[in-house]
Amino acid sequence: MTTSEEFSKFLSSRRSTRDFLSTPIPSDLLDQILTDALTAPSWSNTRPFKVAVASGDVRDRISSEFLARWSVLSKIMRKGFLNKLRIIYSRYGLPTSNRSIAKPYPSELKPRAERLGKELYEVFGVQRGDKDARDKQWAKNYSFFGAPVEIFVFVHKSLHIYAASDAGLMMQNLMLSAHAHGLGTCAQGAVGVWEDVVREEFEISKDYRLLCGIAIGYPSDSPVNDFGANRIGLDELMVRPRRK
Ligand SMILES: Cc1cc2nc3c(=O)[nH]c(=O)nc-3n(C[C@H](O)[C@H](O)[C@H](O)COP(=O)(O)O)c2cc1C
Repeated sequence: MTTSEEFSKFLSSRRSTRDFLSTPIPSDLLDQILTDALTAPSWSNTRPFKVAVASGDVRDRISSEFLARWSVLSKIMRKGFLNKLRIIYSRYGLPTSNRSIAKPYPSELKPRAERLGKELYEVFGVQRGDKDARDKQWAKNYSFFGAPVEIFVFVHKSLHIYAASDAGLMMQNLMLSAHAHGLGTCAQGAVGVWEDVVREEFEISKDYRLLCGIAIGYPSDSPVNDFGANRIGLDELMVRPRRK
């Protein structure tokens, strides 16, 4: 097999990990992965991002607060009368950042997200319509699926979409380097809604805003880690030329 074929195979073998062992990550390995992340290209080489690496007690405190907020928010989302009252009297649990992620998907993208949800929840053993089980599964985002380390990615508020694009390139290098070193990762938009919790633990300039998190650690042998999300085909990727 040629090196390029091996590379393509390596790329396609990376999958999000959603069940981690608690085994700690050696700090020199984490440094290597973050160094690899920084080999990504960047707009005018500005690197408009910062990372907050949460492990140990910091990780645990953030996770506890997220779980407490999720337990309130998941009930609020059920929209019962008592829960509506709760919103009026206490804002606890409501998103403090990235509120737009709660918006419905546009029709072009919705079927893809729905397919992922359906297939993934099947693997998790969550029955269709079982909202309690669904909320419980989503809560696992807030214990970082058991990962010993959560990396919070912040982007500079300037540069607009290009800051997020640069962070995405950096994140992809990070995730591939982790994969090459036998670690698993899961990018997590779910943790983007309570930026204040992360700020409580780290000194982060107001010039930066939270983009998402990345859970990182050694994957368990749970079948959820074998889940293969669908890939769109080139026909869906490429637009047609106006002229033949
Ligand atoms: C920015 C971003 C945010 C994501 N947020 C979550 C999340 O909150 N929870 C989760 O389980 N997966 C999350 N994912 C993982 C995607 O669902 C996953 O990448 C996609 O389904 C493709 O599967 P794969 O990573 O296994 O190839 C996120 C991915 C990205 C890039």
